[in-house]
Amino acid sequence: MNIEVWRGDITTLGVDAIVNAANNSLLGGGGVDGAIHRAAGPELLAACRELGGCDTGDAKATPGFDLPARWVIHTVGPVWYGGDQGEPELLASCYRRSLEVADEIGGRTVAFPAISTGVYAYPKAAAADVAVAALRSADRSVESVTLVGFDEATVATYEAALRAP
Ligand code: APR
Repeated sequence: MNIEVWRGDITTLGVDAIVNAANNSLLGGGGVDGAIHRAAGPELLAACRELGGCDTGDAKATPGFDLPARWVIHTVGPVWYGGDQGEPELLASCYRRSLEVADEIGGRTVAFPAISTGVYAYPKAAAADVAVAALRSADRSVESVTLVGFDEATVATYEAALRAP
């Protein structure tokens, strides 16, 4: 599986699936969640209502509707409480479960935002290390993963994490 870093707005990517950093309700929010809902249009919220929420660390797919991406994989990252409340394991689960769901829907190219590193306050560098380790240990048929940094700091943490052995 190829992993690359890209800086920009995830809603513009014409990949098979973009991952949304959602909340447990799946009923939208701010940050990347808000951007994805705005770009996908109101059908996305209607589809999310059918899903009955999502546990932290789990992932569920909907169509992408007005997005260039065919699917949205909604995942819920952990809120950062200092690192001893299971946050690393839950964050790793977001990446693993998103790849499993991508596999199930036949998605081969997947783009991730920096899950939990915004409102949920997960430290960027630690989150990038968890993301890269989880992706590298996945044995799914996803061919290409794009780690999307919305800002330069996030891009730098991804690149540092990828350089680590
Ligand atoms: N494209 C790519 N990345 C983006 C975009 C975008 N359009 N908009 C924001 N981001 C980045 C942020 O800069 C951050 O690096 O996504 C990362 C995740 O930040 P949040 O969107 O705040 O997500 P998170 O920290 O997981 O918090 C989730 O925020 O929006 C609410 O409903 C959401 O309650 C949930 C919580």
